[in-house]
Amino acid sequence: MSESVLRQRRPTVAILATGGTIAGEALVAAQTIGYTAGVIGVDRLLSAVPELDSVAAIRAEQVASIDSKDLDNALWIALTHRVNILLAQDDIDGLVIMHGTDTLEETAYWLHLTVSSEKPVVLTAAMRPFTALSADGALNLFNAVTLAAYPDAAARGVLVAFANRIHGARDITKVSTYAIDAFASPESGVLGWVHDKRVEFQRRVTRTHTIKSVFRLNVINTQNLLPVVQIVVSHAGVEGIIVDALVNAGTHGIVVAGTGNGSIHATLQKALVHARTQSVSVVRSSRVGSGHVMHNAAAPDDILGLVSAGTLNPYKARILLMLSLAHGWSEPIVLQSLFDRY
Ligand code: SIN
Repeated sequence: MSESVLRQRRPTVAILATGGTIAGEALVAAQTIGYTAGVIGVDRLLSAVPELDSVAAIRAEQVASIDSKDLDNALWIALTHRVNILLAQDDIDGLVIMHGTDTLEETAYWLHLTVSSEKPVVLTAAMRPFTALSADGALNLFNAVTLAAYPDAAARGVLVAFANRIHGARDITKVSTYAIDAFASPESGVLGWVHDKRVEFQRRVTRTHTIKSVFRLNVINTQNLLPVVQIVVSHAGVEGIIVDALVNAGTHGIVVAGTGNGSIHATLQKALVHARTQSVSVVRSSRVGSGHVMHNAAAPDDILGLVSAGTLNPYKARILLMLSLAHGWSEPIVLQSLFDRY
């Protein structure tokens, strides 16, 4: 029997809808690409899953209606504030965010670092639009609510429920452009599974998150301006001009999606060394999609003042660098200790 059944009262789960394919609409049911994401409102989405009533009382809000490729810092900041407010309420037990798959891993990690509650926060999404034959959104939503209502999902950081699997926010990445099972947690594996109202965890996350995180939004100014951190890719024939342009534009940090173990083309490295002389922070990640970027291995990090991202992919490394710089932490040794801990 799941622990949620053993609660004294029926759990209440808040749902924040942001758009995505889970709220996507196509002209005909056979259409699974070429639809419009983020157009169907949360009430209609919920009315398609009456079984939610058997799991939790639901309080739903529409916070955005976007294709997640268009996500920006302002929505992240608004989400963190709203999540913190809702989870501070005694009668809310957990929270689900309906999101697009394209930047889901980024929002999950952003919230993992900035939410100040141990209550379950679960993101979910869909690969097929709401109107499609065999749409996956309804079951993903049902499983996400089941997980958010499950007491032992607390204190595990931000979670993702997708295709019956439970992923950690730090680990998850999108690995297919079309497959229904579009996500994986390379290097670390899934945290557990959710099937038919049953939740099973196989491991805990070890890195720091949520209530123990040092990252808080009160350092961000009222214009929602975060330090500018851009991602550049190292590849055959790359030129340093892109880095020079970013430096000239006043960029505060650069994450390099390096080859292999975060190695950087000599031409690009020359430009990045120059960027360091202009106080631009530089983090080495990898474009490979799995594996670990080791410190002082494919580049002399300590000599060049670079930071290695470990297992964080470039998109998540960008978030950690942005938040670190927002707190005023830019010394390579300090940044490295944050990348080793988060
Ligand atoms: C989106 O990310 O909003 C569109 C794609 C998707 O949800 O699968």
